[in-house]
Amino acid sequence: MSFKITDSVTWVGKVDWELRKFHGEEYSTHKGSTYNSYLVRDQKNVLIDTVWIPFAGQFVEKLKNEIPLEDIDFIIINHAEIDHSGSLPELMKHIPNTPIYCTANAVKSLKGHYHQAWDFRVVKTGEKLSIGSKEFVFVEAPMLHWPDTMMCYLTEDNILFSTDAFGQHYASEYMYNDLVDQSELYHECIKYYANILTPFSRMVDRKIKEVVGFNLPVNIICPSHGVLWRNDPLQIVKKYAEWAGDYQENQITILYDTMWDGTRRMAEAIAEGIKSADVTVNVKLFNTARRDKNDIITEVFKSKAILLGSPTVNKGILSSVAGIMEEIKGLAFKNKKAAAFGTYGWSGESVAILSELLKESGFAVINDGIKELWNPDEKAIAECIEFGKDFVLEITK
Ligand code: FEO
Repeated sequence: MSFKITDSVTWVGKVDWELRKFHGEEYSTHKGSTYNSYLVRDQKNVLIDTVWIPFAGQFVEKLKNEIPLEDIDFIIINHAEIDHSGSLPELMKHIPNTPIYCTANAVKSLKGHYHQAWDFRVVKTGEKLSIGSKEFVFVEAPMLHWPDTMMCYLTEDNILFSTDAFGQHYASEYMYNDLVDQSELYHECIKYYANILTPFSRMVDRKIKEVVGFNLPVNIICPSHGVLWRNDPLQIVKKYAEWAGDYQENQITILYDTMWDGTRRMAEAIAEGIKSADVTVNVKLFNTARRDKNDIITEVFKSKAILLGSPTVNKGILSSVAGIMEEIKGLAFKNKKAAAFGTYGWSGESVAILSELLKESGFAVINDGIKELWNPDEKAIAECIEFGKDFVLEITK
């Protein structure tokens, strides 16, 4: 598949309906993804980015149907990560002397990945590349989400090629934001932001202000994954500005793992307590061993507070809770409150360990947590309900 976006811009990427994991096994892609590459024709012809390595042969063959490869005058690599640069080695076998425009950090990444001395042309923010009747304007966007990342803007067509920012892991044959299911699109956008861009929110905020400050008209935003934003394209920019501002909804998420259902019963009783004290709050429960970790992280991103539960096992905590906390720690969430809970039979270290993990991960831990011995009895369940009530009242003070 390829399709024309404007008279001069053609999408030449790959829709990957089968993809189920991205970044190795780190990111679930329930709805597949796309690797967006764009061919821009003017007096000079430009290819923007490529596709992931497994599709390199197919990509180059399809590209030959669009344009004789030797007619490609320049390549722009907005971001050197393998999902976008992976077909460069195959392509460059055919056109080894074609200049590659990218940032200084991208040169390091591309050399690090492919060990080739291609004709790199380093660009900086504000520099331009004329291709005839139009020109590209380059904007460095370091740490959105790699040091090498940049965006480029095509004048006359008024298209912002935004790289990973504003993208989604969302396979579709429609490829435009106004044609797809809006709820699916929103979910994939917020999941992408929560799981990939959260640690860089301060940079996202600054970069949005900088790009908006250029006062350039934007007709279409073309990200590197998922559908293109042609209908009200700035809607996703506004969403990013919101998400970058320590975003939260009126939600409390309870994460737990359990061995013989004691900690699960505690979780459910705490949820009951929260609801009894505040009917407006959206309480969600997730067993960390049974639910997709990226979906859980998306829910943590939306939450104003979390509760974290594990029974004590071998003086520690259950591995699914430890695993997801390692990811949550790296994402550096801000402005969220928390507390811990769990059952125990004899030594009972889990709640203290969980509280410490929450603190290390940047959460404001508001109390010492609650632990219950063996399988919670009626009195213990009543204590958990009370704990949930106190928790929600304390965080809404
Ligand atoms: Fe889609 Fe950072 O690569």
